[in-house]
Amino acid sequence: MSIQIPRGTQDILPGTVEKWQYIEEKAKEICTNYQYKEIRTPVFESSELFTRGVGDTTDIVQKEMYIFEDRGGRNLALRPEGTASVVRSFVENKMFGNPNQPTKLFYSGPMFRYERPQAGRYRQFVQFGVEALGSEDPAIDAEVISLAMAIYQKIGLKNLKLVINSLGDSQSRLAHREALINHFKPSIGEFCSDCQSRLEKNPLRILDCKKDRDHELMGTAPSILDFLNEESKVYFDKVQTYLSSMNIEFEVDPTLVRGLDYYNHTAFEIMSNAEGFGAITTLCGGGRYNGLVEMIGGPSTPGIGFALSIERLIAALDAEKVDLPINEQIDCYLVSLGEEAKDYTVKLLHELRDNGFSAERDYQDRKIKAQFKAADRHKAKFVAVLGEDELKANKINVKDMTTGEQEEISLDQFISHFQQKLR
Ligand code: HAM
Repeated sequence: MSIQIPRGTQDILPGTVEKWQYIEEKAKEICTNYQYKEIRTPVFESSELFTRGVGDTTDIVQKEMYIFEDRGGRNLALRPEGTASVVRSFVENKMFGNPNQPTKLFYSGPMFRYERPQAGRYRQFVQFGVEALGSEDPAIDAEVISLAMAIYQKIGLKNLKLVINSLGDSQSRLAHREALINHFKPSIGEFCSDCQSRLEKNPLRILDCKKDRDHELMGTAPSILDFLNEESKVYFDKVQTYLSSMNIEFEVDPTLVRGLDYYNHTAFEIMSNAEGFGAITTLCGGGRYNGLVEMIGGPSTPGIGFALSIERLIAALDAEKVDLPINEQIDCYLVSLGEEAKDYTVKLLHELRDNGFSAERDYQDRKIKAQFKAADRHKAKFVAVLGEDELKANKINVKDMTTGEQEEISLDQFISHFQQKLR
């Protein structure tokens, strides 16, 4: 039997990869405008980084991590997300000592989760994310949210819904935790074994349970917003004021808890509202994680960020039928007639490319008609035809495929002709 691609992964082939390149370039360009700098971290890390960072009661750590022991006996994990790695690098490289704070970083790369594959859910997927470390100003929360929205909007999405919540500071969370335990404890026997074990360890996780989401106690669970202390309330109000001042529409959803343990204060998700979009509508998730840097061994430093998956972004673009402005045209296709002319196109093609033009010629020994067809398939802006007679006369025939205009030019002028026409 032939070997097949692993379940939950996909090949991104030419024809589709151009969409990925466009999106990644556009997202990088927007990050640069917002003054976020790229960081690249390894795809595998010590497993403990995620157990500690993401949280040992989360689904990601309990059920979804690709963990392995390397030949030296180290316990490693393929990264399920990017935030813990970025924070590890921030601490290890003492970025907190840089006078230019907050440290604003972006990243993009594959993440790995052993989830049940379905439309929009993969075992290897690509996240584009940002992290801003070192500021507790609610304006940076609003900046991070506005950056996420800008990426979607500038790429062409319209049917978006931004949902925000506050998970409060540790004091507010403690009060909410007690209320959650009291709420679920009497009926905890009706919940799944995960929820039962999470009741005392981390009752907030119960709200995120996929199995018990329809249990009636879920809908009546105490809302975190009723437990926010004054400071957390003021913080959350400020974030909302800043979002409104940028004309960014949002909904407050007190049931939004997120699937990772490091969050406090602002949490948010962006969903697609597009008709025909699959069952999984969350495009992007993020929030504040004051305390994570300390947990990973660094000095007390606040942080906030988000990550979006490019797979889901592309699915949303398809659902909204957005055409990306991808340039598939080449500058010149060289058509030749006769052996000597064909040989000469090797040099001409090289000169075109050396001068920065995209160009192609035939390598299949095609007849002239088929060479013209190939030029069409390459969407060539110009087709240059070289026959034996032209070669003898040191000339070449160049056709502008947009206007249909043809010119016979001297071979010595060939490159400068393109420089005039295309620059
Ligand atoms: P997350 O909500 O686990 O957060 O993932 C963020 C985004 O990654 C999701 O909204 C979704 O678009 C995408 N995603 C997650 N799992 C899959 C999957 N199996 N297949 C396809 N896409 C997926 C985080 O990862 C946090 N690190 C975000 C963050 C950054 N918070 C603060 N900074």
